[in-house]
Amino acid sequence: MSDYPKIAQLKSVGALRERLVELGLDLPVDDGILTAEHGSPLAQPIDLGPLHCGNRWCIHPMEGWDANRDGSPSELTLRRWRHFGLSGAKLIWGGEAAAVQADGRANPNQTLATASNKAGLAALLNECLMAHRQSFGTTDDLVVGLQLTHSGRFCRPENHDLAPRIAYHHPLLDAKFGIKPDDNSVVWTDDDLERLIDQFVAAARLARDVGFRFVDIKACHGYLLHEFLSARTRPGRFGGDLAGRSRLLVTIVERVREAHPDLAVLVRLSIFDTLPFETSREIGRPMEHWHLLPYRFGFGVDAERPLDYDLTEGFELLRLLQTAGVPAVNISCGSPYYNPHIQRPAIFPPSDGYQPPEDPLVGVVRQIQAARACKAAVPDLPMVGTGYSYLQDYLPHVAQAVVRAGWIDMVGLGRMVLSYPEMPADTLTRGTMERKKVCRTFSDCTTAPRNYLPSGCYPLDAFYKQRPEADEVKRVKQEMR
Ligand SMILES: Cc1cc2nc3c(=O)[nH]c(=O)nc-3n(C[C@H](O)[C@H](O)[C@H](O)COP(=O)(O)O)c2cc1C
Ligand code: SF4
Repeated sequence: MSDYPKIAQLKSVGALRERLVELGLDLPVDDGILTAEHGSPLAQPIDLGPLHCGNRWCIHPMEGWDANRDGSPSELTLRRWRHFGLSGAKLIWGGEAAAVQADGRANPNQTLATASNKAGLAALLNECLMAHRQSFGTTDDLVVGLQLTHSGRFCRPENHDLAPRIAYHHPLLDAKFGIKPDDNSVVWTDDDLERLIDQFVAAARLARDVGFRFVDIKACHGYLLHEFLSARTRPGRFGGDLAGRSRLLVTIVERVREAHPDLAVLVRLSIFDTLPFETSREIGRPMEHWHLLPYRFGFGVDAERPLDYDLTEGFELLRLLQTAGVPAVNISCGSPYYNPHIQRPAIFPPSDGYQPPEDPLVGVVRQIQAARACKAAVPDLPMVGTGYSYLQDYLPHVAQAVVRAGWIDMVGLGRMVLSYPEMPADTLTRGTMERKKVCRTFSDCTTAPRNYLPSGCYPLDAFYKQRPEADEVKRVKQEMR
Protein backbone atom coordinates (compact mmCIF):
# COMPACT_ATOMS: atom_id res chain seq x y z
CA MET A 1 0.00 0.00 0.00
CA SER A 2 1.12 3.56 -0.61
CA ASP A 3 2.48 5.42 2.41
CA TYR A 4 1.11 8.89 1.77
CA PRO A 5 -0.29 10.37 4.98
CA LYS A 6 -4.01 9.68 5.15
CA ILE A 7 -6.31 12.66 5.54
CA ALA A 8 -7.74 11.15 8.75
CA GLN A 9 -4.19 11.38 10.18
CA LEU A 10 -4.07 15.13 9.53
CA LYS A 11 -5.70 16.10 12.80
CA SER A 12 -6.31 19.79 12.16
CA VAL A 13 -6.72 22.37 9.43
CA GLY A 14 -3.18 23.44 10.30
CA ALA A 15 -1.86 19.94 9.61
CA LEU A 16 -3.59 19.89 6.24
CA ARG A 17 -2.15 23.28 5.39
CA GLU A 18 1.34 22.04 6.32
CA ARG A 19 0.94 19.01 4.10
CA LEU A 20 -0.18 21.23 1.21
CA VAL A 21 2.93 23.36 1.69
CA GLU A 22 5.14 20.23 1.74
CA LEU A 23 3.62 19.18 -1.56
CA GLY A 24 3.98 22.69 -3.01
CA LEU A 25 0.21 22.95 -3.56
CA ASP A 26 -1.79 26.17 -3.66
CA LEU A 27 -5.20 25.57 -2.06
CA PRO A 28 -7.19 27.83 0.27
CA VAL A 29 -8.61 26.13 3.37
CA ASP A 30 -11.02 27.85 5.78
CA ASP A 31 -10.45 27.52 9.54
CA GLY A 32 -13.86 25.95 10.17
CA ILE A 33 -17.18 24.97 8.63
CA LEU A 34 -19.59 27.86 8.18
CA THR A 35 -23.34 27.42 8.39
CA ALA A 36 -25.72 29.35 6.16
CA GLU A 37 -26.52 31.53 9.14
CA HIS A 38 -22.85 32.34 9.61
CA GLY A 39 -22.40 33.38 6.00
CA SER A 40 -21.20 30.24 4.21
CA PRO A 41 -20.45 31.13 0.59
CA LEU A 42 -22.03 27.76 -0.23
CA ALA A 43 -25.39 29.00 1.01
CA GLN A 44 -25.57 31.70 -1.65
CA PRO A 45 -28.13 31.10 -4.43
CA ILE A 46 -27.00 31.16 -8.05
CA ASP A 47 -28.66 31.35 -11.46
CA LEU A 48 -27.41 29.14 -14.27
CA GLY A 49 -29.18 30.92 -17.12
CA PRO A 50 -32.84 30.09 -16.50
CA LEU A 51 -32.09 27.65 -13.65
CA HIS A 52 -32.30 29.05 -10.14
CA CYS A 53 -30.35 27.02 -7.57
CA GLY A 54 -30.85 27.77 -3.89
CA ASN A 55 -27.24 27.07 -2.87
CA ARG A 56 -23.79 26.24 -4.24
CA TRP A 57 -23.72 22.49 -3.51
CA CYS A 58 -24.18 20.19 -6.47
CA ILE A 59 -24.53 16.41 -6.62
CA HIS A 60 -22.57 14.88 -9.47
CA PRO A 61 -24.15 12.16 -11.58
CA MET A 62 -23.44 8.69 -10.20
CA GLU A 63 -24.73 5.53 -11.76
CA GLY A 64 -25.15 2.37 -9.73
CA TRP A 65 -24.99 -0.56 -12.18
CA ASP A 66 -28.28 -1.41 -10.54
CA ALA A 67 -31.15 -0.73 -12.96
CA ASN A 68 -33.30 -3.65 -14.06
CA ARG A 69 -32.30 -5.32 -17.30
CA ASP A 70 -35.00 -3.36 -19.16
CA GLY A 71 -33.35 -0.09 -18.07
CA SER A 72 -35.98 0.75 -15.45
CA PRO A 73 -34.92 1.71 -11.92
CA SER A 74 -34.59 -0.90 -9.19
CA GLU A 75 -35.12 -0.16 -5.51
CA LEU A 76 -31.36 0.55 -5.29
CA THR A 77 -31.54 3.13 -8.08
CA LEU A 78 -34.52 4.84 -6.45
CA ARG A 79 -32.75 4.88 -3.10
CA ARG A 80 -29.76 6.68 -4.59
CA TRP A 81 -31.95 9.38 -6.15
CA ARG A 82 -33.81 9.71 -2.84
CA HIS A 83 -30.47 10.36 -1.16
CA PHE A 84 -29.56 12.95 -3.79
CA GLY A 85 -32.85 14.72 -2.97
CA LEU A 86 -32.40 14.73 0.79
CA SER A 87 -28.77 15.86 0.57
CA GLY A 88 -29.70 19.53 0.67
CA ALA A 89 -27.74 20.30 -2.50
CA LYS A 90 -29.79 22.49 -4.81
CA LEU A 91 -28.38 21.25 -8.11
CA ILE A 92 -28.67 17.58 -9.03
CA TRP A 93 -26.40 17.43 -12.06
CA GLY A 94 -27.97 14.67 -14.10
CA GLY A 95 -28.53 12.02 -11.41
CA GLU A 96 -26.73 9.34 -13.34
CA ALA A 97 -25.67 8.48 -16.86
CA ALA A 98 -28.72 7.25 -18.77
CA ALA A 99 -28.08 5.70 -22.18
CA VAL A 100 -29.87 7.20 -25.18
CA GLN A 101 -30.01 3.80 -26.86
CA ALA A 102 -29.81 0.27 -25.49
CA ASP A 103 -26.58 -0.68 -27.28
CA GLY A 104 -24.89 2.44 -25.87
CA ARG A 105 -25.08 1.20 -22.26
CA ALA A 106 -21.86 0.85 -20.27
CA ASN A 107 -23.30 -2.20 -18.51
CA PRO A 108 -26.43 -4.29 -18.84
CA ASN A 109 -27.84 -2.63 -15.73
CA GLN A 110 -27.53 0.96 -16.88
CA THR A 111 -30.62 3.18 -16.79
CA LEU A 112 -32.15 3.86 -20.19
CA ALA A 113 -33.30 7.25 -21.45
CA THR A 114 -35.58 5.65 -24.03
CA ALA A 115 -39.37 5.72 -24.44
CA SER A 116 -39.59 2.24 -22.91
CA ASN A 117 -38.39 3.72 -19.60
CA LYS A 118 -40.44 6.91 -19.48
CA ALA A 119 -42.23 5.82 -16.31
CA GLY A 120 -38.87 4.83 -14.76
CA LEU A 121 -37.35 8.25 -15.42
CA ALA A 122 -40.45 9.89 -13.94
CA ALA A 123 -40.11 7.69 -10.85
CA LEU A 124 -36.46 8.70 -10.37
CA LEU A 125 -37.25 12.39 -10.64
CA ASN A 126 -40.23 12.03 -8.35
CA GLU A 127 -38.22 10.17 -5.72
CA CYS A 128 -35.61 12.92 -5.67
CA LEU A 129 -38.15 15.76 -5.53
CA MET A 130 -40.22 14.09 -2.83
CA ALA A 131 -37.22 13.47 -0.60
CA HIS A 132 -36.15 17.08 -1.00
CA ARG A 133 -39.61 18.41 -0.26
CA GLN A 134 -39.92 16.22 2.83
CA SER A 135 -36.61 17.45 4.21
CA PHE A 136 -36.68 21.10 3.16
CA GLY A 137 -40.34 21.96 2.57
CA THR A 138 -40.01 23.14 -1.03
CA THR A 139 -38.47 22.24 -4.37
CA ASP A 140 -38.75 25.76 -5.80
CA ASP A 141 -35.01 26.35 -5.64
CA LEU A 142 -33.97 22.78 -6.51
CA VAL A 143 -32.83 22.01 -10.07
CA VAL A 144 -32.74 18.41 -11.28
CA GLY A 145 -31.51 17.29 -14.69
CA LEU A 146 -30.82 14.02 -16.48
CA GLN A 147 -27.41 13.01 -17.83
CA LEU A 148 -27.55 11.55 -21.34
CA THR A 149 -24.80 9.27 -22.59
CA HIS A 150 -23.50 6.87 -25.17
CA SER A 151 -20.66 4.78 -23.77
CA GLY A 152 -18.69 4.49 -27.01
CA ARG A 153 -15.50 2.51 -26.41
CA PHE A 154 -16.84 1.27 -23.07
CA CYS A 155 -20.21 -0.20 -24.16
CA ARG A 156 -21.15 -3.45 -22.45
CA PRO A 157 -24.86 -3.53 -23.25
CA GLU A 158 -25.71 -7.21 -23.03
CA ASN A 159 -23.24 -8.98 -20.78
CA HIS A 160 -19.78 -8.33 -19.42
CA ASP A 161 -18.07 -8.32 -22.82
CA LEU A 162 -17.07 -5.03 -24.36
CA ALA A 163 -19.05 -4.14 -27.50
CA PRO A 164 -17.16 -0.97 -28.40
CA ARG A 165 -18.27 1.75 -30.83
CA ILE A 166 -15.27 4.05 -31.16
CA ALA A 167 -14.55 7.46 -32.66
CA TYR A 168 -11.13 6.38 -33.96
CA HIS A 169 -8.44 3.81 -33.37
CA HIS A 170 -6.41 4.86 -30.34
CA PRO A 171 -3.04 3.11 -30.27
CA LEU A 172 -2.92 2.70 -26.47
CA LEU A 173 -6.60 2.25 -25.61
CA ASP A 174 -7.11 -0.26 -28.43
CA ALA A 175 -4.29 -2.32 -26.97
CA LYS A 176 -5.48 -1.92 -23.37
CA PHE A 177 -9.06 -2.95 -24.14
CA GLY A 178 -8.45 -5.56 -26.82
CA ILE A 179 -9.61 -3.78 -29.98
CA LYS A 180 -7.90 -4.85 -33.20
CA PRO A 181 -6.27 -1.82 -34.83
CA ASP A 182 -7.60 -2.82 -38.26
CA ASP A 183 -11.18 -3.57 -37.16
CA ASN A 184 -13.11 -0.72 -38.71
CA SER A 185 -16.48 -2.31 -38.01
CA VAL A 186 -16.36 -0.73 -34.55
CA VAL A 187 -15.72 2.82 -35.83
CA TRP A 188 -18.75 5.11 -36.20
CA THR A 189 -19.57 6.22 -39.75
CA ASP A 190 -20.67 9.82 -40.22
CA ASP A 191 -24.12 8.54 -41.25
CA ASP A 192 -24.49 6.55 -38.03
CA LEU A 193 -23.62 9.68 -36.10
CA GLU A 194 -26.51 11.58 -37.71
CA ARG A 195 -28.83 8.91 -36.31
CA LEU A 196 -27.15 9.12 -32.93
CA ILE A 197 -27.82 12.87 -32.83
CA ASP A 198 -31.51 12.10 -33.35
CA GLN A 199 -31.39 9.69 -30.43
CA PHE A 200 -30.02 12.41 -28.13
CA VAL A 201 -32.80 14.76 -29.28
CA ALA A 202 -35.42 12.08 -28.60
CA ALA A 203 -33.99 11.31 -25.16
CA ALA A 204 -33.98 15.02 -24.32
CA ARG A 205 -37.65 15.27 -25.29
CA LEU A 206 -38.40 12.39 -22.95
CA ALA A 207 -36.52 14.09 -20.12
CA ARG A 208 -38.41 17.31 -20.71
CA ASP A 209 -41.79 15.57 -20.89
CA VAL A 210 -41.09 13.81 -17.62
CA GLY A 211 -40.27 17.12 -15.92
CA PHE A 212 -36.46 17.34 -15.79
CA ARG A 213 -35.30 20.96 -15.95
CA PHE A 214 -32.23 20.22 -18.05
CA VAL A 215 -30.27 17.52 -19.78
CA ASP A 216 -26.52 17.09 -19.41
CA ILE A 217 -24.82 15.94 -22.59
CA LYS A 218 -22.08 13.75 -21.15
CA ALA A 219 -18.71 14.50 -22.73
CA CYS A 220 -16.35 13.10 -20.13
CA HIS A 221 -14.59 10.04 -18.72
CA GLY A 222 -13.63 8.35 -22.00
CA TYR A 223 -17.19 7.83 -23.20
CA LEU A 224 -18.20 8.56 -26.76
CA LEU A 225 -18.57 12.34 -26.86
CA HIS A 226 -15.38 12.75 -24.87
CA GLU A 227 -13.45 10.43 -27.17
CA PHE A 228 -14.52 12.48 -30.19
CA LEU A 229 -12.75 15.52 -28.72
CA SER A 230 -9.38 13.84 -29.36
CA ALA A 231 -10.25 12.33 -32.76
CA ARG A 232 -7.46 14.16 -34.58
CA THR A 233 -6.75 11.17 -36.81
CA ARG A 234 -10.39 10.73 -37.80
CA PRO A 235 -11.10 11.91 -41.35
CA GLY A 236 -14.28 13.78 -42.28
CA ARG A 237 -16.67 16.18 -40.58
CA PHE A 238 -16.33 14.79 -37.05
CA GLY A 239 -12.56 14.70 -36.67
CA GLY A 240 -9.38 16.65 -37.43
CA ASP A 241 -9.27 20.18 -36.04
CA LEU A 242 -11.11 21.30 -32.89
CA ALA A 243 -14.13 22.46 -34.91
CA GLY A 244 -14.41 18.96 -36.39
CA ARG A 245 -13.72 17.09 -33.16
CA SER A 246 -16.27 19.09 -31.19
CA ARG A 247 -18.87 19.04 -34.01
CA LEU A 248 -20.74 16.03 -32.64
CA LEU A 249 -21.08 17.53 -29.16
CA VAL A 250 -21.93 21.04 -30.35
CA THR A 251 -24.44 19.73 -32.92
CA ILE A 252 -26.22 17.67 -30.26
CA VAL A 253 -26.43 20.75 -28.04
CA GLU A 254 -27.77 22.89 -30.89
CA ARG A 255 -30.24 20.29 -32.11
CA VAL A 256 -31.64 19.66 -28.63
CA ARG A 257 -32.00 23.39 -28.06
CA GLU A 258 -33.77 23.89 -31.41
CA ALA A 259 -36.16 21.04 -30.74
CA HIS A 260 -36.82 21.91 -27.09
CA PRO A 261 -36.21 25.62 -26.45
CA ASP A 262 -37.74 25.32 -22.97
CA LEU A 263 -35.16 22.74 -21.84
CA ALA A 264 -31.71 23.86 -20.68
CA VAL A 265 -28.75 21.93 -22.09
CA LEU A 266 -25.69 21.58 -19.87
CA VAL A 267 -22.43 19.75 -20.53
CA ARG A 268 -20.10 17.72 -18.31
CA LEU A 269 -16.60 17.77 -19.73
CA SER A 270 -13.32 16.01 -19.12
CA ILE A 271 -11.45 19.24 -19.64
CA PHE A 272 -8.06 17.53 -19.45
CA ASP A 273 -6.71 14.04 -19.62
CA THR A 274 -3.43 12.20 -19.27
CA LEU A 275 -1.96 9.01 -20.67
CA PRO A 276 -3.68 5.67 -20.05
CA PHE A 277 -2.06 3.87 -17.10
CA GLU A 278 -1.27 0.16 -16.76
CA THR A 279 -3.59 -1.87 -14.54
CA SER A 280 -1.43 -3.44 -11.81
CA ARG A 281 -1.01 -4.04 -8.09
CA GLU A 282 2.04 -1.75 -8.15
CA ILE A 283 2.44 2.01 -8.18
CA GLY A 284 0.69 3.29 -11.31
CA ARG A 285 2.77 3.72 -14.46
CA PRO A 286 1.67 5.25 -17.75
CA MET A 287 1.57 2.93 -20.75
CA GLU A 288 4.65 2.97 -22.97
CA HIS A 289 4.16 5.99 -25.23
CA TRP A 290 7.56 7.34 -26.28
CA HIS A 291 7.03 6.12 -29.83
CA LEU A 292 3.86 8.25 -30.04
CA LEU A 293 5.39 11.65 -29.28
CA PRO A 294 4.20 14.29 -30.02
CA TYR A 295 1.12 12.68 -28.50
CA ARG A 296 -2.08 13.36 -30.47
CA PHE A 297 -4.46 10.99 -28.69
CA GLY A 298 -5.81 12.96 -25.75
CA PHE A 299 -7.98 16.04 -25.28
CA GLY A 300 -6.42 18.67 -23.02
CA VAL A 301 -3.07 16.88 -23.01
CA ASP A 302 0.31 18.50 -23.61
CA ALA A 303 1.55 16.85 -26.83
CA GLU A 304 5.24 16.96 -25.86
CA ARG A 305 4.75 16.02 -22.17
CA PRO A 306 1.51 14.03 -22.18
CA LEU A 307 1.51 13.52 -18.42
CA ASP A 308 0.80 17.26 -18.19
CA TYR A 309 -2.36 18.99 -19.18
CA ASP A 310 -2.88 21.76 -21.71
CA LEU A 311 -6.12 23.73 -21.41
CA THR A 312 -5.77 25.81 -24.59
CA GLU A 313 -8.36 23.82 -26.54
CA GLY A 314 -10.50 23.39 -23.45
CA PHE A 315 -10.90 27.15 -23.17
CA GLU A 316 -11.89 27.32 -26.84
CA LEU A 317 -14.41 24.54 -26.37
CA LEU A 318 -15.95 26.28 -23.37
CA ARG A 319 -16.48 29.37 -25.51
CA LEU A 320 -17.98 27.28 -28.32
CA LEU A 321 -20.42 25.72 -25.87
CA GLN A 322 -21.31 29.08 -24.39
CA THR A 323 -22.02 30.41 -27.88
CA ALA A 324 -24.20 27.35 -28.53
CA GLY A 325 -26.32 28.38 -25.52
CA VAL A 326 -24.97 26.14 -22.75
CA PRO A 327 -25.64 28.01 -19.46
CA ALA A 328 -23.26 25.98 -17.24
CA VAL A 329 -20.60 23.30 -17.43
CA ASN A 330 -19.35 20.72 -14.99
CA ILE A 331 -15.57 20.40 -15.11
CA SER A 332 -14.20 16.89 -14.70
CA CYS A 333 -11.18 15.11 -16.17
CA GLY A 334 -9.69 11.84 -17.37
CA SER A 335 -11.42 8.48 -17.23
CA PRO A 336 -12.15 5.93 -14.50
CA TYR A 337 -11.20 3.16 -16.96
CA TYR A 338 -7.68 4.19 -17.88
CA ASN A 339 -6.42 6.82 -15.42
CA PRO A 340 -8.62 6.68 -12.30
CA HIS A 341 -6.04 8.40 -10.08
CA ILE A 342 -6.58 11.73 -11.83
CA GLN A 343 -10.36 11.40 -12.13
CA ARG A 344 -11.20 10.08 -8.63
CA PRO A 345 -8.22 10.72 -6.34
CA ALA A 346 -8.19 7.87 -3.79
CA ILE A 347 -5.76 6.36 -1.30
CA PHE A 348 -7.13 2.84 -1.94
CA PRO A 349 -7.35 1.93 -5.64
CA PRO A 350 -10.28 0.17 -7.32
CA SER A 351 -9.67 -3.43 -8.46
CA ASP A 352 -8.89 -2.40 -12.04
CA GLY A 353 -6.59 0.45 -10.95
CA TYR A 354 -3.08 0.66 -9.44
CA GLN A 355 -1.47 2.10 -6.32
CA PRO A 356 -1.59 5.93 -6.41
CA PRO A 357 1.43 7.32 -8.26
CA GLU A 358 1.11 10.62 -6.38
CA ASP A 359 -0.35 11.84 -3.11
CA PRO A 360 -4.08 11.98 -3.97
CA LEU A 361 -4.08 15.57 -2.72
CA VAL A 362 -2.03 16.40 -5.81
CA GLY A 363 -4.87 15.02 -7.94
CA VAL A 364 -7.49 17.00 -6.03
CA VAL A 365 -5.59 20.26 -6.42
CA ARG A 366 -4.88 19.54 -10.12
CA GLN A 367 -8.64 19.40 -10.77
CA ILE A 368 -9.39 22.46 -8.65
CA GLN A 369 -6.63 24.51 -10.31
CA ALA A 370 -7.67 23.43 -13.81
CA ALA A 371 -11.27 24.44 -13.08
CA ARG A 372 -10.00 27.72 -11.66
CA ALA A 373 -8.12 28.39 -14.89
CA CYS A 374 -11.27 27.62 -16.90
CA LYS A 375 -13.27 30.02 -14.76
CA ALA A 376 -10.65 32.74 -15.22
CA ALA A 377 -10.66 32.17 -19.01
CA VAL A 378 -14.47 32.21 -19.40
CA PRO A 379 -15.66 34.09 -16.32
CA ASP A 380 -19.29 34.56 -17.35
CA LEU A 381 -19.96 30.84 -17.82
CA PRO A 382 -21.03 29.25 -14.50
CA MET A 383 -18.96 26.20 -13.59
CA VAL A 384 -19.18 23.29 -11.16
CA GLY A 385 -15.97 21.81 -9.75
CA THR A 386 -15.22 18.11 -9.29
CA GLY A 387 -12.87 15.81 -7.39
CA TYR A 388 -13.35 17.10 -3.85
CA SER A 389 -14.28 13.87 -2.01
CA TYR A 390 -10.69 12.96 -1.15
CA LEU A 391 -10.55 16.10 1.02
CA GLN A 392 -12.76 14.17 3.44
CA ASP A 393 -13.15 16.03 6.78
CA TYR A 394 -11.82 19.22 5.16
CA LEU A 395 -14.03 19.17 2.08
CA PRO A 396 -16.34 21.97 3.32
CA HIS A 397 -13.36 24.07 4.46
CA VAL A 398 -11.94 24.04 0.94
CA ALA A 399 -15.32 24.26 -0.83
CA GLN A 400 -16.23 27.44 1.07
CA ALA A 401 -12.85 29.00 0.40
CA VAL A 402 -12.74 28.33 -3.36
CA VAL A 403 -16.29 29.56 -3.92
CA ARG A 404 -15.58 32.68 -1.86
CA ALA A 405 -12.40 33.30 -3.87
CA GLY A 406 -14.34 32.95 -7.14
CA TRP A 407 -12.23 29.99 -8.31
CA ILE A 408 -15.44 28.11 -9.06
CA ASP A 409 -19.19 28.81 -8.81
CA MET A 410 -20.44 25.56 -7.29
CA VAL A 411 -18.86 22.51 -5.70
CA GLY A 412 -19.99 19.06 -6.77
CA LEU A 413 -20.01 15.93 -4.63
CA GLY A 414 -19.42 12.45 -5.96
CA ARG A 415 -18.35 9.64 -3.62
CA MET A 416 -18.90 11.70 -0.48
CA VAL A 417 -22.64 11.71 -1.05
CA LEU A 418 -22.70 7.92 -1.43
CA SER A 419 -21.28 7.44 2.06
CA TYR A 420 -22.79 10.58 3.60
CA PRO A 421 -25.88 11.81 1.76
CA GLU A 422 -26.82 14.48 4.32
CA MET A 423 -23.42 16.16 4.23
CA PRO A 424 -24.47 19.41 2.45
CA ALA A 425 -27.45 19.88 4.80
CA ASP A 426 -25.41 19.07 7.92
CA THR A 427 -22.71 21.56 7.07
CA LEU A 428 -25.09 24.34 6.10
CA THR A 429 -27.39 23.96 9.09
CA ARG A 430 -25.15 22.65 11.89
CA GLY A 431 -21.65 23.45 10.72
CA THR A 432 -20.49 19.92 11.51
CA MET A 433 -19.85 16.59 9.80
CA GLU A 434 -20.47 13.08 11.14
CA ARG A 435 -16.97 11.60 11.02
CA LYS A 436 -18.10 8.02 10.73
CA LYS A 437 -19.90 8.77 7.48
CA VAL A 438 -17.03 10.58 5.77
CA CYS A 439 -15.91 8.84 2.55
CA ARG A 440 -12.38 7.48 3.04
CA THR A 441 -11.93 6.65 -0.65
CA PHE A 442 -11.91 2.88 -0.18
CA SER A 443 -13.08 2.62 -3.82
CA ASP A 444 -15.53 -0.24 -3.13
CA CYS A 445 -18.18 1.72 -5.03
CA THR A 446 -15.98 1.22 -8.13
CA THR A 447 -14.52 -2.19 -7.29
CA ALA A 448 -18.03 -3.67 -6.94
CA PRO A 449 -19.23 -2.79 -10.45
CA ARG A 450 -15.84 -3.75 -11.92
CA ASN A 451 -16.71 -7.20 -10.59
CA TYR A 452 -20.28 -7.10 -11.93
CA LEU A 453 -21.94 -6.19 -8.64
CA PRO A 454 -24.10 -3.14 -7.95
CA SER A 455 -22.19 -0.06 -6.82
CA GLY A 456 -22.66 1.29 -3.31
CA CYS A 457 -20.74 2.32 -0.25
CA TYR A 458 -20.17 -1.18 1.15
CA PRO A 459 -17.73 -0.11 3.91
CA LEU A 460 -19.73 2.75 5.45
CA ASP A 461 -23.40 2.52 4.47
CA ALA A 462 -25.18 0.04 6.78
CA PHE A 463 -27.65 -0.74 4.02
CA TYR A 464 -24.91 -2.04 1.70
CA LYS A 465 -22.86 -3.57 4.53
CA GLN A 466 -25.59 -6.12 5.19
CA ARG A 467 -26.26 -6.99 1.54
CA PRO A 468 -25.08 -10.39 0.26
CA GLU A 469 -22.74 -8.71 -2.27
CA ALA A 470 -20.70 -7.20 0.60
CA ASP A 471 -18.91 -10.53 1.18
CA GLU A 472 -18.08 -10.81 -2.48
CA VAL A 473 -16.59 -7.29 -2.48
CA LYS A 474 -14.47 -8.23 0.57
CA ARG A 475 -13.25 -11.38 -1.18
CA VAL A 476 -12.22 -9.43 -4.28
CA LYS A 477 -10.33 -6.96 -2.10
CA GLN A 478 -8.53 -9.72 -0.22
CA GLU A 479 -7.37 -11.18 -3.52
CA MET A 480 -6.00 -7.76 -4.47
CA ARG A 481 -3.63 -7.72 -1.46
C1 LIG B 1 -19.90 4.84 -8.26
C2 LIG B 1 -19.66 6.00 -9.17
C3 LIG B 1 -20.49 6.20 -10.27
C4 LIG B 1 -20.26 7.29 -11.12
N1 LIG B 1 -21.12 7.50 -12.17
C5 LIG B 1 -20.98 8.60 -12.94
C6 LIG B 1 -21.95 8.91 -13.94
O1 LIG B 1 -22.95 8.21 -14.12
N2 LIG B 1 -21.74 10.03 -14.67
C7 LIG B 1 -20.67 10.86 -14.48
O2 LIG B 1 -20.53 11.87 -15.16
N3 LIG B 1 -19.76 10.59 -13.52
C8 LIG B 1 -19.90 9.50 -12.74
N4 LIG B 1 -19.02 9.27 -11.71
C9 LIG B 1 -17.95 10.25 -11.43
C10 LIG B 1 -18.41 11.23 -10.34
O3 LIG B 1 -19.51 11.98 -10.79
C11 LIG B 1 -17.26 12.18 -9.92
O4 LIG B 1 -16.83 12.88 -11.05
C12 LIG B 1 -16.08 11.46 -9.32
O5 LIG B 1 -16.50 10.51 -8.37
C13 LIG B 1 -15.10 12.46 -8.67
O6 LIG B 1 -15.74 13.22 -7.70
P1 LIG B 1 -15.56 12.89 -6.12
O7 LIG B 1 -14.13 13.11 -5.82
O8 LIG B 1 -16.47 13.83 -5.40
O9 LIG B 1 -15.97 11.46 -5.94
C14 LIG B 1 -19.20 8.18 -10.87
C15 LIG B 1 -18.38 7.96 -9.76
C16 LIG B 1 -18.60 6.90 -8.91
C17 LIG B 1 -17.72 6.73 -7.71
S1 SF4 C 1 -17.11 2.87 -1.13
FE1 SF4 C 1 -17.78 4.48 0.25
S2 SF4 C 1 -15.94 5.15 1.34
FE2 SF4 C 1 -15.31 3.96 -0.43
S3 SF4 C 1 -14.95 5.46 -2.04
FE3 SF4 C 1 -17.01 4.74 -2.32
S4 SF4 C 1 -18.24 6.16 -1.14
FE4 SF4 C 1 -16.17 6.42 -0.44
